[in-house]
Formats: sequence, C-alpha cells, structure tokens
Amino acid sequence: MPWRRPRKRVEHPVNVSRAIEETLEEIASAEDEEDSVELANVDGASIVEAATGQPDTEERAPSPLAEQLSRVELSDAAVVTPVRTAERPEADVDLAVDAARGLRLKNPVLTASGTFGQGVEYAELIDVSRLGAIVNKGTTVLARPGNPQYRIAETPSGILNSIGLENPGAAAVAKKYARAWRELGVPVIVNVAGYSVDDYVTVVSEFAGIAGVVAYELNISCPNVKGGMLFGFDPDLAGEVTAAAKQETDKPVIVKLTPNAPDVVAVARAIEQAGADGLTAINTVLGMRIDTKKRRPILGTRSGGLSGPAIRPIAVHITYQVAQAVSIPIIGAGGVTDAEDALEFLMAGASAVQVGTATFADPLAPLQVIEGLAAYVRANGLGSIRDVIGAALPTPREPR
Ligand SMILES: Cc1cc2nc3c(=O)[nH]c(=O)nc-3n(C[C@H](O)[C@H](O)[C@H](O)COP(=O)(O)O)c2cc1C
Repeated sequence: MPWRRPRKRVEHPVNVSRAIEETLEEIASAEDEEDSVELANVDGASIVEAATGQPDTEERAPSPLAEQLSRVELSDAAVVTPVRTAERPEADVDLAVDAARGLRLKNPVLTASGTFGQGVEYAELIDVSRLGAIVNKGTTVLARPGNPQYRIAETPSGILNSIGLENPGAAAVAKKYARAWRELGVPVIVNVAGYSVDDYVTVVSEFAGIAGVVAYELNISCPNVKGGMLFGFDPDLAGEVTAAAKQETDKPVIVKLTPNAPDVVAVARAIEQAGADGLTAINTVLGMRIDTKKRRPILGTRSGGLSGPAIRPIAVHITYQVAQAVSIPIIGAGGVTDAEDALEFLMAGASAVQVGTATFADPLAPLQVIEGLAAYVRANGLGSIRDVIGAALPTPREPR
C-alpha cells in the first residue's frame, strides 16, 4: 500500500494518478526512506511491492509505527487507539443519507473494500469516526493466502490488482476485530466473498451479534465452484446468493455489482427482487498489462481488476443505468478521488460513494470528499446532500 506519512495535514493533491506516480518515484529513488510508513502487509504486499509490483527483497528497519501496526496484526484481539480530531468542517451541514434500506449514515462517504484494511490500521492515522462507514477487506470462510506475485501493476490513472482475497478467514477476522470495531466509532460493513451459496451464508453468520457491524456487502465477483460461473454474471445465481444471505441476517444486505457481467442491469434487477437492501456499483474492471521484455502478462494471474479514475466513467454509467432499473439505494464506487467525482455518482443516482484506490495515494482523501460535499451543499444553499441524489437522471429519484 503505497503511502508516505503526510508531513503537513490536508495539503495533498487529489489527482490520484499523479500522486501514485510521485509516490513511485520517491520510493524508487529511496528518498526519505526512513520516513515511509510500512502500513504494508495490507493485502500481503509490502509498501514497495504494492507500489512497484516487484517482489521486495531488501531488508529495512521498520519505523516505530510499523512495529506498532505489526503487533496489532499478531495479537489475538486487535488493539486500537483511534485518532480523534476536534475540527469537523462538515458538522453544520446535513449530509445524512440512506446508503441502503435500513442503513442511515451520517454522510455518504465510505471506504471501499480491500483498500482500507480492517479499518483499525487507519484509525490511528486519521479520524475514521468522521466517515459514513467503512467496508472491511473481503472475507471468506477459510483463510486464503492470496494470488501469486505480481499482484499490483500501475496503469495510467489507476492500478491493476490481483490480490486474490487474501484474508485469515471469517472466524479469525470476527475474533480479532470485534472489539476494535466497536471502539472505532464508525459503522463497519463486512465484505463477504465465497465459492458457494453456503460460503456466503457461513461468513455472514460468523459476524452475527458483533456490535459495530451494521450491514454486509456481498462481493459476487467470485466463481461458483458448482459450474464455474461468476455469481455476479448470472441473474439467477446472484439472486440465489442474495436471498440466502438475507435469510441469515436481519441486517441490511448490499450486493456489489461486477461491471464485467454481460448484462449488469439484469443482474441488479434480480438482486433487488431477491430482497437486497442496496447495491454497490461497481467492483473492478477486468484488465491486463504485458511486460514487453519478458513478453508475458505482468500479473501472476495474468488478468486483474482495474480501479481508480480510469474506471470512473464506466462506474458512473452503470450507476445511471441501474438507478433507472431498481428502487433500492446504490453506493457508487470507481475512481472517486474528490467531492466533484462523488457528486457525479450522486447525481447519477447513487445515494453514497466509496473511496478506494485514492486512499492509497492519500489516506485523507475520503475526509476531503466529505468536506467538499459539505462545501457544495453550503455554497448552493441546499437543505441537504440528499437534494442532489439522482439530479441527472431523466426522471429524478425520490429523495431518500
Ligand atoms: C487492492 C484492491 C483490493 C480490493 N479488494 C476487494 C475486496 O476484497 N472485495 C471487494 O468487494 N472489492 C475489492 N476491491 C474493489 C474495490 O472495493 C472497489 O470496488 C474498486 O477498487 C473501485 O473503486 P476505486 O476505483 O475507488 O478503487 C479491491 C480493490 C483494490 C484496488
């Protein structure tokens, strides 16, 4: 996870692709190496691996913060002392939204799964209680080691990843983070992945009764071992897994659409009919890079998922189409780096947004999006941020 400790707060450029390049250059030239924070081990890659896509063989002395973080990783129960800031420029503005049926959040800005660890890693760096919610790392029934290297490749305006759902398994995640999540002061949405309908149900059941967990987000970009088809490609399969998860929990179930499906709108409709409380649009877009010297794909899995500003127009388009086909709330995701990007999604019909890849370049990005949305509401004399939801649709959505 490429990130360097900000020397001064709130002075980062929000152009994510430029920021990633800058970070890469700085890391490559090893400037201020002692200053880089090895948050790392998020998704199994070191800061250099995440930034360069090359295995990192060099030994470095971890910074005090890196040591602190690795202790958090190793202990049975994660311990967290969340940072709290007195300054909340958004406090005077009504930013509350229904991110899903039954999921009222104080603002529409969430972090995206797989880009914010388990939340606790960032809680000691930024005031996570200012976020609408966080979505944890993809969680499966059993521990998964993740995919072979390389797992990250840089692209213009984005990154390609093939992390492969590396995680310690649902029971271990629940045991380790239950207490810390309660102390974060921000709602947690558990991102659920699986290879059968039973897998999804089992993961959901592992988090029953954990205070702080407010909803589930089903990652249906996974192959169903029975037949090999991705859950998110097929309306019937997507509906089946949604209905099963709904039966298992009273908490809201949000289902995350894959843009790679032949007919995303048909899948979205089936998910709504199966009882979902909301949708996330979208997961990563399939892509590939080739190492021209080796004449082979760069990623160990050959193909990977593209994220970042490169996919934003695709994500906004899908949001716009799906918003006209369903009436449950939609959470937009894909290349959100600033408030202007978030507004595009909201006007296309999303009720909230997730910030993912942008957080790698600047952990403050989600908070800056919140501040920017508050400034927009103020500057335009709106009653609340809800006034812009669906504003660009041919038939505006009912305010939520
Ligand atoms: C490194 C990485 C890991 C991700 N892991 C997950 C995951 O475990 N589950 C999931 O549903 N989405 C995962 N995603 C997809 C993001 O949550 C998000 O949908 C996507 O990246 C688009 O948003 P962005 O452009 O703001 O990053 C991952 C994305 C990245 C870049």
